[in-house]
Amino acid sequence: MGTLIENLTVQLGTRSYPILIGEGLLGERAMIDRHVRARDVLIVSNTTVAPLYLANLEASLSPRRTIATLLPDGESYKTLDTVARILDVLVANRFGRDCAVLALGGGVVGDMAGFAASIYQRGVTFIQAPTTLLAQVDSAVGGKTGVNHPGGKNLIGAFHQPSAVLSDTTTLATLPPRELRAGLAEVVKYGLIRDADFFAWLEARVDALLAGDTDALAHVIRRSCEIKADVVARDEHEHGERALLNFGHTFGHAVESATGYGRWLHGEAVAAGMAMAARMSCESRLLDAADLQRIMRLIERLGLPTHVDQVQPQTMLEHMRIDKKVLDGRIRLVLLRAIGQAFVTADYDENRLTHTLEAHLR
Ligand code: NAD
Ligand code: GLY
Repeated sequence: MGTLIENLTVQLGTRSYPILIGEGLLGERAMIDRHVRARDVLIVSNTTVAPLYLANLEASLSPRRTIATLLPDGESYKTLDTVARILDVLVANRFGRDCAVLALGGGVVGDMAGFAASIYQRGVTFIQAPTTLLAQVDSAVGGKTGVNHPGGKNLIGAFHQPSAVLSDTTTLATLPPRELRAGLAEVVKYGLIRDADFFAWLEARVDALLAGDTDALAHVIRRSCEIKADVVARDEHEHGERALLNFGHTFGHAVESATGYGRWLHGEAVAAGMAMAARMSCESRLLDAADLQRIMRLIERLGLPTHVDQVQPQTMLEHMRIDKKVLDGRIRLVLLRAIGQAFVTADYDENRLTHTLEAHLR
């Protein structure tokens, strides 16, 4: 029997949906019945996750008609071509508008399955069953879906909210340590943008988190989802506050696209990006030096990078200019006034930005 740890709601009026967090949820037939109403379900997974968790999920979904499509594993496959493959399977199996697409995997699978669901027959039901820490704390919640373009990260996509997020925390037991650490980068982000107490809590729990302690991980998933659900409910389509969730991402996305997708994990690039955004905040005399040191120290203790090899400042700037937050040709940055207090600004000194990049690129 599964154990439900938390049941949160993303409040979006008639499109509100639950985030269920619990141990063994994917084997919970009654829970699956409550949240998967479609009779035809396309499960989108990949060649790494499916051998681990697909059979259990399919058993819980029976007697629905389930078809599974397994994508190749990796950020480099997060492309329109791969989404076209998902659409081909939907068409070939004559899935109608009343079907559901269910993503079983990390953020790469979730972003592509969600994008396919958003455009198939102009939008069908989408369910997230995230299996990485990063997806459970971030990408499965909030309805951003899409793919990369060689010219820029996540440049093609759509907002398409899931009807439920089913986070089975037992799946994290098989996650490679490097992927666990990458997920912790997005967790640190929530402390930095919104919750100084949570940041301090993380500082005190580094060993437990790196050891995969289930209670500590359950707490970070719950707190991260609370913060994300709250921000998304107020600004679903990122007209304002939601941009704060991109703290470190303007820098991080540039690292990912400048180095070719896949060399850096997304969470690793976000970690280095947060280090750069924090230094830029300090160089701009917003954040004090002691807070900058705390941020660098936590990122390093979590085994995450603060610096980037083999990328030139000019190359970084070129990639940053295609960021979705660019307005009137100006790169907007998410900066910190203090730990827990982030804001978006286009009002900064270009020389400080160059200096920040020089300090973090080797
Ligand atoms: P990922 O999807 O590539 O998964 C990481 C690796 O872990 C993969 O090799 C995967 O096959 C494997 N894996 C997944 N679950 C596993 C498990 N339980 N056991 C063993 N291996 C497992 O990467 P990710 O970090 O989950 O997601 C990163 C992606 O998410 C990026 O493309 C990023 O842009 C996107 N993202 C999207 C949003 C959003 O709001 N939509 C937010 C943050 C990140
Ligand atoms: N990961 C950023 C967002 O969902 O807005």
